[in-house]
Amino acid sequence: MDGIAPDVYAKQKSNAQLMAMQSIDSLIDANYRPYDQIVDIGCGDGDITKHFLGKHLPHKHILAIDIVPDMISYARSHNHSDDNTIEYLLQDMSIEWPELCPRVRELDGKVDLIFSNFTLSYMPDKWRTVGIFRRLLSTGGIFHANIFIIGDLNKKLVTNGQQPGKWYQSREKQLDDWRQSLLSDNQFLVKQFDIIDVIWPTDRQKMIDFMPIIVSKVRPFFKDDQSAYDRELNDHLWDTAFDTVVNPMATEPNPGAWKRFLADPTIREVNRHHRLLRVTAIKQ
Ligand SMILES: C[S@@+](CC[C@H](N)C(=O)[O-])C[C@H]1O[C@@H](n2cnc3c(N)ncnc32)[C@H](O)[C@@H]1O
Repeated sequence: MDGIAPDVYAKQKSNAQLMAMQSIDSLIDANYRPYDQIVDIGCGDGDITKHFLGKHLPHKHILAIDIVPDMISYARSHNHSDDNTIEYLLQDMSIEWPELCPRVRELDGKVDLIFSNFTLSYMPDKWRTVGIFRRLLSTGGIFHANIFIIGDLNKKLVTNGQQPGKWYQSREKQLDDWRQSLLSDNQFLVKQFDIIDVIWPTDRQKMIDFMPIIVSKVRPFFKDDQSAYDRELNDHLWDTAFDTVVNPMATEPNPGAWKRFLADPTIREVNRHHRLLRVTAIKQ
């Protein structure tokens, strides 16, 4: 995926922090089990790892993982733990189990809590991701995540005569895939599967900063057809991605939506509409 720089992310993260704190409160309230070994998937700059997970959930060790080198460097220098219980690791978590580095694989069956805040929408293959979580967790271990369910870009892509629906998963399909990947073979006991619709007012500059993040979420779904991604990227992808977030009910392409926003400085704020999935599941 395209890297998110820590300084750009820092301006965006208040909503992510709020959702993370709600999650941690719910984990404390549910009191499932002690979380000696925690893994934070997609830890970003490490703020949530240190100040939320590290501070509020008693633990022996937290392995915090991210794919972006700058994020891990930032986390190591700004969010290290004084008692050395937090370890930051550079690793792509979307790959197959045998390709993961030995440090991750040595936690096979030893993890009490896998936590992930707004990272799993980047994972193109949910079965593979859930399979890796199943492998890492001990029996009775908890998987908890907040996940963006991306708006249906298919309805809005200007497909130049190509078959719509070919590249992008609808919201229903994304939710179904998460549900099925957790439930198939009775792998997990799903305790919570909440769909949460939020509207986040976002000022102009933050929207400009946030757009590369929105566009980067789309890239993994084009993995089998990079030329289609490039075609859309060159033509309409930014318009499509922008319109999907600020105007989610519309079902027609809106060519030029992003370019018009950029060209009109009188638009000081937009509402970002997001659908979120909050899931808690126990490995059986
Ligand atoms: C929206 S940020 C969330 C960061 C942090 N969890 C928070 O809530 O503040 C998503 C993070 O996931 C990371 N990420 C994306 N794909 C990943 C992958 N395949 N493996 C590991 N981390 C990934 C990104 O680099 C980014 O730091």
